[in-house]
Amino acid sequence: MKRRELLAVGASLPLMAWAAEAPGRDGKPVPTSGAPAAAEAVHRAADVLDVRDFEPLARAALPPAHYGYLATGIDDDRTLLRNEAAFSEYEIRSHRFADMTHVDTAQNVLGERWPMPVYLSAVSSLAAFHPEAEKAVARAAQTRGARMMLSSGSSTSLERVIAERHAPVWQQLYPTDDWSVTKAMVQRAEAAGADAIVLTVDGRATAGVRNSETLRRLARVDTRTCTNCHAGNRHDMWLKAPLFAGLDVSRVSALVPADLTIGWLDRLRHIVRGRLFVKGIVTGEDAALAVAHGADAVIVSNHGGRNEETLRASIDCVAEVVAAVRGRVPVFVDGGVRRGTDVYKALALGATAVGIGRPPCWGLAAFGQEGVEAVLDLYAREVKAIMMQAGTPTIAAITSKALLRRGASA
Ligand SMILES: Cc1cc2nc3c(=O)[nH]c(=O)nc-3n(C[C@H](O)[C@H](O)[C@H](O)COP(=O)(O)O)c2cc1C
Repeated sequence: MKRRELLAVGASLPLMAWAAEAPGRDGKPVPTSGAPAAAEAVHRAADVLDVRDFEPLARAALPPAHYGYLATGIDDDRTLLRNEAAFSEYEIRSHRFADMTHVDTAQNVLGERWPMPVYLSAVSSLAAFHPEAEKAVARAAQTRGARMMLSSGSSTSLERVIAERHAPVWQQLYPTDDWSVTKAMVQRAEAAGADAIVLTVDGRATAGVRNSETLRRLARVDTRTCTNCHAGNRHDMWLKAPLFAGLDVSRVSALVPADLTIGWLDRLRHIVRGRLFVKGIVTGEDAALAVAHGADAVIVSNHGGRNEETLRASIDCVAEVVAAVRGRVPVFVDGGVRRGTDVYKALALGATAVGIGRPPCWGLAAFGQEGVEAVLDLYAREVKAIMMQAGTPTIAAITSKALLRRGASA
C-alpha cells in the first residue's frame, strides 16, 4: 500500500486507535510528545485540534526510519521530553482589567512585520517526510506569512525555496570542517538571496559519535532497501544537499568544526556580508560572547534535544540569555513549543519569537502544505486566545509580569 493510500485509510480512523497502531516494533516505545486526547475522526488537516495530534498521523504516514529520524533525541531522549515538560513549570498571571477590543499578534522583527511570533526552524532533508518537501513548507510559509529557516541539508535548492516563499529565507549553516567549503556556502547562500546566515554551534558530536538511539532502533525495523535512495547508504548531507552541489567536499569530515572557537566566529563574521545569527546557545556567557563578536541574533536551542542529553530544557535557558544580551539583539528560542501558551511564556521570559522544528514536519508528513498551514493556524489561534485571556492586547504588552515560576509567589 502506498503511503498516501495508507494515510487516507488512517485519516478516517479515530486518532487514539491510529496512534496505538503506529509502529514501535522494537519493544521500546518511541517517545511521543503527548498522546492525543481527541477521539474524533480526522479527515483533513483543518480537523486536527492540537499540534501534537499531528504526530501520530505523521508516524503512520512515514516509514519507520524516517519517522525515527524526526522523532529521535539523544541517548534516552530525556532532554527532548524535558523541552516540552518544562513549559508546565511556568504559570501565566492573567490580568482582567484591560481593553481587549483589539488584539494584535503581529510584531516587528528585524524591520519586518510578522503576523505572529513563530517561525519555522531548520529541519534538514524534508524529502524524507513528503515528496513536496521544502516546497510545500515554503508555500505554507507564504500563505501564512511565516519566516522560514532553511537547513544546509535541505533537499530543495535555496533558489527554489525563495521562489516558492516569494520572500527571502534565513539560511542555516553547518559550516563543515573545511573553511573553503564554509566560504563557498556563505557566498552561494547570500548570492541566492538568503538575508541571514544562521550558524548552528551545537553539533560537534556528529557521525559515529552522536547517539541517536531512537533513530537507530527504528531504522532496524525498517525493511526497505535504503540504498535505493541513499546512494552507497551514505547519509552525510554534504554528499547530497543542493547547497553543497559542485563544491569540493573531499576534505569534509564533520558538519561543525571541532575548533569552533570565538576566533572562528570572528573569521565567519568577516565573510558574512548580511546578518549573522548564532543558533544553539544555552548560556548567558556564550550569548554575551556571540553578541560581542557580531551576532545579529541569538537563538536559544538544544537542537530539539537531539545533540546532548543535558536534561536542561531550552525554555529554562532563556532568562539567562536574555539577561546577558541586554536587548542589543533579538533572542529567539526553539524546543518543545507545542501550544500558544508556550509561545506566550517564551515571550514573557524576554524572547522575541519562537522557532518550531518537529510540528510543521508532522503536518507536512500527514497532509503536505495543508498540514503545515494547519499547524501554523493552531499556533496563531492559541497565541491570540491566551493574549485575550491574559489581558495583553499586543506582543509588546507581554512582559515578565505575566509569568510566574511554579511555586514562586507574585
Ligand atoms: C529531523 C530534524 C532535523 C533537524 N535539522 C536541523 C538542521 O539541519 N540544522 C539545525 O540547525 N537544526 C536542525 N534541527 C533542529 C531544529 O532546527 C530545532 O532546533 C528543533 O527541532 C526545535 O525543537 P522542536 O522540534 O521541539 O520544535 C533539526 C530538528 C529535527 C527534528
